[in-house]
Amino acid sequence: MLIVENIYAGYQDLDILHGVSLHVNPGEMVCVIGPNGAGKSTVFKAIYGLIKVRQGRVLFDDRDITNFKPQQVLQAGIAIVPQLRSVFPQMSVMENLELGMYLEKNQKRIEQRIEYIFTLFPELSQMRERLAGTMSGGEQRMLEIGRSLMLEPKMLMIDEPSAGLAPRISQAVFKNIQRLNREINLTVLAIEQNARQGLEVSHRGYVLELGKNTFEGATSALLENPDVRRSFLGG
Ligand SMILES: Nc1ncnc2c1ncn2[C@@H]1O[C@H](COP(=O)(O)OP(=O)(O)OP(=O)(O)O)[C@@H](O)[C@H]1O
Ligand SMILES: [Mg+2]
Repeated sequence: MLIVENIYAGYQDLDILHGVSLHVNPGEMVCVIGPNGAGKSTVFKAIYGLIKVRQGRVLFDDRDITNFKPQQVLQAGIAIVPQLRSVFPQMSVMENLELGMYLEKNQKRIEQRIEYIFTLFPELSQMRERLAGTMSGGEQRMLEIGRSLMLEPKMLMIDEPSAGLAPRISQAVFKNIQRLNREINLTVLAIEQNARQGLEVSHRGYVLELGKNTFEGATSALLENPDVRRSFLGG
């Protein structure tokens, strides 16, 4: 579904990614792990048209989407949840969800979609009028995911779902993403600092180091790999 082919990208004149390749099959959940500063978020920015791909290609659904603008990537069917919190704190849960469909004029369709999102996240339906800024970190993460699903994307890219969350809460967020992957067949590409947690809920994984992917494989194989274990899983 998504093919990233040998991409080079970075900031100003400096390349951070030196030939990154990865792919995600339809219905798969894939996790990218690697140390701080390895370039994980930069891969997402390059796929999403937030920085320029200087070499290589990005294909999605058999289309070349290299250097598409973010809006075009979204229209192609890829939703993104960025690493930093992106809810609007002064707006309610309902208003935040509506913003996920801000170009839609038909109020009925917006309402139907919001009700559908509430079936996926029953906890959110209990807090429709809550201001997003008053919700816990985990709840805000759910809201961000819910909002990203408003446009019925084919694939979700999520950068560090567990960032800033207590272990028990991040576990719950992961379980929710895994549930979406299984129940509505949502294709997922996730980045995760907590390598073990990310790999345990995914089908396949990639290790990114210094702007290159160094290991890849089924998550069961990565979890067993002595080098991966030593470097990323605490032995
Ligand atoms: N806007 C920017 N301008 C210049 N350099 C940047 C910018 N954003 C990131 N970098 C640099 O690019 C490198 C990769 O950063 P990136 O955010 O992709 O890492 P990461 O793997 O996502 O790390 P983390 O796990 O800490 O989120 C780092 O050296 C970082 O300092
Ligand atoms: Mg990052």
